[in-house]
Amino acid sequence: MRILVINGPNINLLGSRETHIYSNMNYTTICDLLHEKAKDMGVSLDIVQSNIEGEIVNYIQDAQNKYDGIIINPAAYTHYSIAIYDALKAVQIPAVEVHLSNIHAREDFRKKSITAGACMGQISGFGYLGYILAMQALIHDFKSKNRC
Ligand code: DQA
Repeated sequence: MRILVINGPNINLLGSRETHIYSNMNYTTICDLLHEKAKDMGVSLDIVQSNIEGEIVNYIQDAQNKYDGIIINPAAYTHYSIAIYDALKAVQIPAVEVHLSNIHAREDFRKKSITAGACMGQISGFGYLGYILAMQALIHDFKSKNRC
């Protein structure tokens, strides 16, 4: 099983960015940890990050026929990107939306996710653990679909 993690704008700044919200764990450490977990879980994992909406759309489009699942943290685009929503709908690869912080317990403008409607579900508020939970959800879904 192949999973693609897509991180949106400013996620590369984890470790120095608003550490009281996002913790002081840096982006590279989180990526290393996810690669380790993926290995333990027996899945192949790629991680990409972009600060540009169109590039994220391209990553989603290019995932077709290459990946069995997408984990996406669209970051600020969560709250207004119809282009990312449409791309997720178009490829029909099972996707899970992840947020490090609990977006429902923050400013009102963060409470609405445009992109979650194109995903199987959303995990919000558990820090980097959210990505691992999302991997488990995608593996569970993949196995249940591929069981004879
Ligand atoms: C975030 C939440 C978003 O509202 C914010 O714009 C981010 C990070 C999170 O992971 O908690 O950049 O997606």
